[in-house]
Amino acid sequence: MKRRDFIVKTGTVMTATIFLTSFGGSKLFASSLSDMEYADKKDKDKRPDPSDFEQPILKAIALGVNAPSPHNTQSWKFKILHDNEMLFYVDENILLPATDPPSRQIHIGTGCFIETLVIGSTTFGYDTEIEYFPEGYDSSSDFGKKPVAKISLTKREILEHPLAKQIYKRQTNRRKYKGNVIPHTEFKSIEKTVGSSHSKMIFINDVEEMKPYLDIFYKGFEIESKTFRTNEETRHLFRYSEKERVEKRDGISIPQMGYKGIMKWLAENSLDNGSKEKWHSEKSINLSLKSVLSGIESTKGIIFWKTEQNNFIDWIKMGRDYVKFELSRTSLNLYVHPYNQAIQEYDEMKTVRNELNSLMNIKNEEKIQMIVRIGRSSTPYYSYRRNVEKYLTE
Ligand SMILES: Cc1cc2nc3c(=O)[nH]c(=O)nc-3n(C[C@H](O)[C@H](O)[C@H](O)COP(=O)(O)O)c2cc1C
Repeated sequence: MKRRDFIVKTGTVMTATIFLTSFGGSKLFASSLSDMEYADKKDKDKRPDPSDFEQPILKAIALGVNAPSPHNTQSWKFKILHDNEMLFYVDENILLPATDPPSRQIHIGTGCFIETLVIGSTTFGYDTEIEYFPEGYDSSSDFGKKPVAKISLTKREILEHPLAKQIYKRQTNRRKYKGNVIPHTEFKSIEKTVGSSHSKMIFINDVEEMKPYLDIFYKGFEIESKTFRTNEETRHLFRYSEKERVEKRDGISIPQMGYKGIMKWLAENSLDNGSKEKWHSEKSINLSLKSVLSGIESTKGIIFWKTEQNNFIDWIKMGRDYVKFELSRTSLNLYVHPYNQAIQEYDEMKTVRNELNSLMNIKNEEKIQMIVRIGRSSTPYYSYRRNVEKYLTE
C-alpha cells in the first residue's frame, strides 16, 4: 500500500500540501486528548495535533513526538506499514557525533519516543506492542537502516494511562530552582508512580553530598563549551530567533536556556544569528558558563540513572524509564534539567568522566546513562516539534 493511500482513506490520494492542512479545525475523534493540558494554550501550535489524523498510527506518532530528545534533535524516522503499525528508525542524518560518539543519547531519545507513544495511545483506546530490533541491530552501520522497533497498535477496552495528561505539560527547565531541597518523600512518590524499571534511579538531596557532583557537572559543561568540536555542534543545533524556531521546529535556543524578557533579547542579539566568531568568543562562553553555574548552584536534588550493561537495548529501555520519570515528576509540579556532559564518551571528557565514575563507584559494565538536577521554578519557554509528515520515510 502506498503511503498516501493510507494517510487518508477518502478514496482521494491527497497531496502533501493537503496532508499538511488536512482536517484543520474539524476534529475527527472526540477523545480525552482534548483534556491533555498545555501550560499555555498558544503552545498548542508548536506541536502536532493528533486529532488532525484518522489513522491510529499517525495519531500515535503525533503524541510520541512530544518526547524529550538530546538537543531536541528528534532523530526519529517512521516507515508506516499500515493503519496500526510502523517500523521506527533512528534518523541517521541527525546524530551528534561530537558530544555523543556512540549515539547512546540519540538511542535514549528513541526510548523516550516509544514510551510517550505507548502512554499517549491509551488516550484513544489503543494498546501498544513493541518488538525491539526486528531485523537485528549490531553496529552503527545499522543506524537508520534497520529499525530499532516495530510498533503495533491494537484497539482494546483499556484505561487511559494515569500519566497521559502530563505529556503536553512536561518540559525541561534550565532556570534557577527555588525553595527547599526536594525531600525523599517526593522522590519515593515519583519512584512509586514510575513502577518497575530497567535502570536504577539514585537520588541525592543532601547539600554537602551534592557538592562534588555539582562541581563535576560544571567541569563537564566547561569542557564541552571550550572544546571547539563539541561547542561547534551545539552552534549548529542552536536556533537564533523565533522565526528560525518556527521554521525548523527543533534544536535549542536562548529562551530554552531559561532567558526571558530583555535578557533574552540581549543574549539572542549578542549571538548575531550564530556567527561562528561570536559563538566561540571567550565572552559568549563565559556568559553561558555563568548562567550554567547559577543554575547548578540552585540545585534542589540530583538524580542519576544507572544500568548494569551498556548495550543498544539498555539505551532504549533507559529512555522509556526516563519518560515515565519525567511525566511523574511533572504531575508533582517538579522540573528537571539534564546535565549529561560528564558522562559523554569523547576523549576530552575522560578525566571528568572517570572522576564521576569513581565517586559513584561504578563497576564493570555499569554505565551512568542520565543525570538531572531537580527542583521547582517558573514555567519555561515551550519547545517545538516537527510536523508529522517530516518524520515519514518510504
Ligand atoms: C538523552 C537526553 C539527553 C539530554 N541531555 C541534556 C543535557 O545534557 N543538557 C540539557 O540542557 N538538556 C538535555 N536534554 C533535554 C533536551 O535538550 C530536551 O528534551 C529538548 O530540548 C526538548 O525540550 P523539552 O524537554 O522541554 O520538550 C536531554 C534529553 C535527552 C532525552
